[in-house]
Amino acid sequence: MAPPLDPRDLHDHPWKRRSSSVSAPYFRLPRRSRRATYICWTVVVFVLYFVLNSATQWSHVPDPRSFYSKGSEVPIRYSHLYLSLSKITGGGNRAWNRNVLFVAGNLDVASKLAGVACEMSMYGRSNVHFALIGDNDMDMELFRKLNGITEENTDCRAFFHDARADFTDLMSLERKKLVVRTALRHLRDFMHPQALITSAGHEDAWFSTVTTDMAKKLQLPAIELPWNAADDLRWITRLDSGSLSAWHKPKFEIVIHADKHSGNLERLLKSLESAYYPTTHHRPKSLTVILNPSVPLHPFTKSFLSSYSFPSPSRIFIRRPLTAPKNSLEAAKQYIESFYPDNDDTSVLVLDSNAEVSKWYYHYLLFTTLEYKYSSYQYYDTVSLFGVSLEEPPSYLNGSSPFNVPTPLKGDQPSPFLYPVPNTRAALFFPRYWSEFHAYFSKNLLYPHKHSTSENDTEPVPFPLSDEAANSWIAPILDIIRARGYVMLYPAFAYESLAIVHHEQPSYTRSPRKGKKKPVKEKPLMEKNNLLDALPNGDLPVFNSKLPLIDWWGRPALWDWLELDALNYRKYISNCKVGSTGLPWMSYNVDDIFCDPDGNSLE
Ligand SMILES: *[C@@H]1O[C@H](CO)[C@@H](O)[C@H](O)[C@H]1NC(C)=O
Ligand SMILES: *[C@@H]1O[C@H](CO)[C@@H](O)[C@H](O)[C@H]1NC(C)=O
Repeated sequence: MAPPLDPRDLHDHPWKRRSSSVSAPYFRLPRRSRRATYICWTVVVFVLYFVLNSATQWSHVPDPRSFYSKGSEVPIRYSHLYLSLSKITGGGNRAWNRNVLFVAGNLDVASKLAGVACEMSMYGRSNVHFALIGDNDMDMELFRKLNGITEENTDCRAFFHDARADFTDLMSLERKKLVVRTALRHLRDFMHPQALITSAGHEDAWFSTVTTDMAKKLQLPAIELPWNAADDLRWITRLDSGSLSAWHKPKFEIVIHADKHSGNLERLLKSLESAYYPTTHHRPKSLTVILNPSVPLHPFTKSFLSSYSFPSPSRIFIRRPLTAPKNSLEAAKQYIESFYPDNDDTSVLVLDSNAEVSKWYYHYLLFTTLEYKYSSYQYYDTVSLFGVSLEEPPSYLNGSSPFNVPTPLKGDQPSPFLYPVPNTRAALFFPRYWSEFHAYFSKNLLYPHKHSTSENDTEPVPFPLSDEAANSWIAPILDIIRARGYVMLYPAFAYESLAIVHHEQPSYTRSPRKGKKKPVKEKPLMEKNNLLDALPNGDLPVFNSKLPLIDWWGRPALWDWLELDALNYRKYISNCKVGSTGLPWMSYNVDDIFCDPDGNSLE
């Protein structure tokens, strides 16, 4: 029990001293001095309290905000940026590297983009960086937590950067713009991204203007993702930094051949117009329709064409040759003449007027072109690829059908495959190869030469040509394709197709057929974006090692074999004195094939 403080309590609660045996004298101050002591102590305690209290107040850092009134020049400091930037490895200081940078200001946009960035990072083809910039003030850790991308719970391998300045909420708009510009410049200096990925269309207007302008100024290829990119453009996550930096380069011109029959031109044109185009930038560069010279233009077709405005009224061209080709050679001439590339990025998509394309045809063409023709890690492996077909081969070169696509591995989707025979009804041809075919054809007309074999060479196995193929426009270019070992990429989707070439014939050319063809079961056009789901492992296979290769005779083949056949075939069609030094490497011309009778170059 504690001793009672008030002496009066002693009467109510008798208090025993702890040790009554010790009889120490009880010392007491006189009553007046006691009161003075109490007062003294109280004063001391109060003074101490005030001293300590004010001392702890001084130890608080004064709020820096109080230094800046709204709108005054707040100094621009990126207090979180340098830590993450300094950790960048892998050639950030070099102009060429594997870095790709996503930037976002708006938090909704940032969530979307972070998802895309994470998926891309998991494919490991690029070093993916994600930077929050602008004037939002969510803590980076919190942002990652809310989006489920903390280090513990995802495989996301993207690098996150907080490129926001301190106190942006106190800055004027002009100052904020400067913050974004400076942040982008810092990011550029430290990582030299090969592509800048934004969703500028969904950011604040000032923000998207600044990022777009700055990307131009810093010469960064800017990819502007649409809002639903995570679904529609999911294939972009499979591309490497080289392909991404070429995002704006590939252009496609469409040439529709209605010169043999006008087929169902309207159906084709409607399907082209209603297809999905990845961004507003990605549209066919032009559309040319070549009409049949021997049949007058049907009034319905004419009125349809006059109101058709895709891709834009000034980029539609109608051609009608003066005369119908007299033979297959002339037909081939007209065909090859129908397009000539104006640069190395403009490919031609040739379409039969009976074709109808899927809504996703452009996505597929852009995906395959970027992946195989612009990728930095596959660029040299894919030199033999001259085009991309939208449909499976309708038959073998010898005319027998159906064509059996390579069987997929168990439990996987069928793989696209390579086959040297060009598709004539719905296929994209890359520009360098088209001009090489053009050159071959034209020199062949100028300098007709005989196939020859020196006594010790083995004569190549002839093409298994059907009459139909021998009379088609491809016949004159088969030689050069074989002599170069070129191949075309064919799709092999299990359930859907990217283009259907319908079989019906327009009434005016319908003639009773002998020996009816079996109706071919058509796979429906792809309606939903299943591009990735329909590919093995959800991705385009690696060119040299994973894509199945089929030879001219429809048999599975090996690259070595195709190359040997090509070398042999070049000797056979050329009278030039060429050693067997291998195939010409990326020369895209035919100077090594045409020589004078003594075997000397014509140049
Ligand atoms: C063909 O082979 C024979 C003997 O095998 C050889 O003597 C001759 O030089 C060869 N000819 C050519 C053109 O290589
Ligand atoms: C055509 O080629 C295919 C594939 O090599 C073969 O199966 C078929 O028998 C050939 N048809 C004719 C008529 O030669």
